[in-house]
Amino acid sequence: MAVSAAAPNPLAPPWLHVPADANALAPGLWSRTVSREGGTLTVGGVAASELAERFGTPLYVIDEDDARSRAVEVRRAFDDAFAEVGTAAKVYYAGKAFLSVEVARWMDAAGLFIDVCSGGELAVALAAGVDPERLGFHGNNKSLAEIERAVEVGIGAIVIDSLQEIDRVAEAAARHGVRQSVRLRVNSGVHAHTHAFLATAHEDQKFGIGLEAAVDAVARIRSHDSLAFKGLHCHIGSQIFGADGFAESAARLLTLHRQLLEGGDVPELNLGGGFGIAYTSADDPAPIDQLARRIAETVAAGCEELDLPLPVVAFEPGRSIIGTAGLTLYTVGTTKDVPVAFQDDGESALRRYVSVDGGMSDNARPALYEADYSARIANRVSSVPPALVRVAGKHCESGDIVVDAEYLPGDVAPGDLLAVPATGAYCFALSSNYNYLGRPPVVAVRGGDARVIVRGETIDDLLARDAAYDPAAARPTASKERNQA
Ligand code: LLP
Repeated sequence: MAVSAAAPNPLAPPWLHVPADANALAPGLWSRTVSREGGTLTVGGVAASELAERFGTPLYVIDEDDARSRAVEVRRAFDDAFAEVGTAAKVYYAGKAFLSVEVARWMDAAGLFIDVCSGGELAVALAAGVDPERLGFHGNNKSLAEIERAVEVGIGAIVIDSLQEIDRVAEAAARHGVRQSVRLRVNSGVHAHTHAFLATAHEDQKFGIGLEAAVDAVARIRSHDSLAFKGLHCHIGSQIFGADGFAESAARLLTLHRQLLEGGDVPELNLGGGFGIAYTSADDPAPIDQLARRIAETVAAGCEELDLPLPVVAFEPGRSIIGTAGLTLYTVGTTKDVPVAFQDDGESALRRYVSVDGGMSDNARPALYEADYSARIANRVSSVPPALVRVAGKHCESGDIVVDAEYLPGDVAPGDLLAVPATGAYCFALSSNYNYLGRPPVVAVRGGDARVIVRGETIDDLLARDAAYDPAAARPTASKERNQA
């Protein structure tokens, strides 16, 4: 027997509760300037419906005030926490979360350093006019050309990730007659995932080198006159809600840091990024100033116990700065009620599939990591009781899910605009052209204005890369701009 879609729906995951108001914007999920005005969701003073009309959907929208203010707040949180214990912090924005020329400038203006992890990201940061001294370069397999370029432009620090790379960077620096600052990425054996962390002797992953091999690696770095060793680096994971994993990792690193002091200076310690944000009402990340204080206290206590001078402590947050600043707008195309069995005796309930005009090409995270998201109807409010929905994309793949489970007003219908919050990090960055969809534009909104900061791709952009494409031989399309038809 099919149960009607009356809430609560037994297909809903345990963490998802029927909201009292399925139009309400849950605190913590949305960027700071998001509100409902006259029923329409507005961001940066611009109505979602206006954004959709002007720029089309899907559309990445970045709340500029939110991104800039969070960048300053995250930097200050670490600056203040470490000043309190008597040292300085250095905060790098992890460009992999979202990088464009405009965003690199915002981060620079907010006083952050920038961490890049490819020649492409390096080029974007340089195109933004960021002082190369304020850049760090990551990657477990940097090409010789990437190393060459980084050294040539005078990059602030290269994070060495393997033994081979020590000699590669040393040679490039010698060729350019410079002394290149480097860090060594180590694998602390601490791996954190959202709520919990795991500490093992050895971690089975590709990044960094084991703690036991680090003393020899640093000796090798120090044997090169063209290299200046700055300190250790460790990144324990991403979307982490608490400070315990960072504290454990810092404690392990400080023991090694002390050993390394016997052979020379170790002015810095880099604890990486990974601070989590809320994607759904079930997520409750600790505020960044609390985390910063806990980590600063742990580092200070560790240094006192080991009788070490406090190093400068560096961090590389990405998601916690840009994640909540972004939202994605989609248009609903179709809806379907699908009966789904939830008990062995065949009892079933209806799951409403709401299909939108984007999907895994603009947000790969649900397909890649089973990441959960939330959604709201953006163009109107409704008093119809909520129904459990699954927001799906338009790709030819059943795993093409945008929001696995959410309660939306039961009259959600084709033509409605949906807003998905917290898509600022690792959505544009991981986007693809799967099924020949053009990547959506990125629009920054602020004080009632909206402007494109990265333009969307057209079908002409995509065809331009196809070496066999000959416009003279092609049948005409209805519109040159036609993108996702
Ligand atoms: N530093 C290093 C060395 C990293 O590898 C990362 C992220 C970060 C900093 C920034 O981490 P964040 O503060 O943004 O969490 N695509 C995945 C996340 C991959 C993170 C890779 N490294 C996702 O969408 O969840």
